[in-house]
Amino acid sequence: MKQDMIVILDLGSTENTTIARKIREMGVYSEIHAHDITPEQLAELKNVKGIILNGGENRIVDGAAVDILPALYECGYPMAAIDHPTAKCKKQWSVLPDEADLREFVFGVCQAQANWNMKNFIEDQIELIRSQVGEKKVLLALSGGVDSSVVAAMLIKAIGQQLVCVHVNHGLMRKNESDSVIEVFKNQLHANLIYVDATERFLDKLENIADPEQKRKIIGGEFIRVFEEEARKLEGIDFLGQGTIYPDIIESGTKTAKMVKSHHNVGGLPEDLKFELVEPLKQLFKDEVRACGIELGLPESMVYRQPFPGPGLGVRCLGAITKERLNAVRESDAILREEFEKAGLNKKVWQYFTVVPDFKSVGVKNNARCFDYMVIIRAINTVDAMSATVERLDWDVLARITERILAEVEHVCRVCYDMSPKPPATIEFE
Ligand code: XMP
Repeated sequence: MKQDMIVILDLGSTENTTIARKIREMGVYSEIHAHDITPEQLAELKNVKGIILNGGENRIVDGAAVDILPALYECGYPMAAIDHPTAKCKKQWSVLPDEADLREFVFGVCQAQANWNMKNFIEDQIELIRSQVGEKKVLLALSGGVDSSVVAAMLIKAIGQQLVCVHVNHGLMRKNESDSVIEVFKNQLHANLIYVDATERFLDKLENIADPEQKRKIIGGEFIRVFEEEARKLEGIDFLGQGTIYPDIIESGTKTAKMVKSHHNVGGLPEDLKFELVEPLKQLFKDEVRACGIELGLPESMVYRQPFPGPGLGVRCLGAITKERLNAVRESDAILREEFEKAGLNKKVWQYFTVVPDFKSVGVKNNARCFDYMVIIRAINTVDAMSATVERLDWDVLARITERILAEVEHVCRVCYDMSPKPPATIEFE
């Protein structure tokens, strides 16, 4: 291990990640662990330079206040405590320390080196992956999203052809999306990539299904089935690569943290497909995952792409999906993205896309009455996707996008701009 580490022990605080992030921003690696970690487990972490006992409002578990194991106080690590009464620590803070105090503890008391950077992290992970995997093979579902792409790039660097990537095109991808996955991973990084075009299979299953929840269930379930079928065709796979990132783990709850949401990345594969997991990003926050992707040489367009839901355009082609309207969503989305890029809005706006409802309106084209679909544009800003505000788009940009959609996309005669914040509207329509 190349980097020094400060360990944060969770004694019921809601601000473990804030402190971990602050310490990482100082260039020192930091991890959050449960309060009942043993001295042996701590020793296995290697290069631990100091410990912060982080108390807080959730400290009472089963009627008693939690504490660390008594033996840990005797291990000789420099310790600080936040909101956790104890006489055994070098530093005592009743509230979150300010940056100067934290620095003094990390660099002054613990003598940690500021050697946490992506290069060292990648080198460490490669070493860990190689020792975990040996000569065996790893399977990875490569969607083309940020997390799975960065995991793929990391695994290719670590184990090359021992990684088997499966890219399932469910037919609900954006324009050229699967092509760019193939271009980057197969042609440029020479990955062992299996491409499955399951478009017709998904569209068959989705025929006449209008209920959003049912659509989502069908897409999610079918995705697992296709992936499972591919996995069964392969011989000698022992490991499954996963794009699990730090928030997935933290949000699943440590012993004192409240459950925010259950960790969903791993679920879904049948019991008899037994894989050991390889999760090289599980200690990274989202912005660190992006920095890791850039360091590994992935294109910016892949690493900084906007969020895209798993069910893809399936939840943007509203109601029962038809090829005609799916095409209209895909083409209008491509125009929107192109024009946003030209106007420099792709770096400014958090998420932007189009949807096509399942009803028609009257229009005139070529001097004749027509009856066609409408495209709705949505462009929002948010911090955490829990609430969102609408981007105040420049009128000329909106007009240009509208003009292009009406001229270039078949079966569309009307374009609208969605002005609704979240709440009450969600970001997606379904
Ligand atoms: P809503 O519509 O709930 O969306 O306001 C919040 C954010 O989550 C994204 N989203 C998804 N992401 N799988 C995902 O990975 C999904 O099924 C899914 N549904 C919504 C949405 O695009 C927005 O950024």
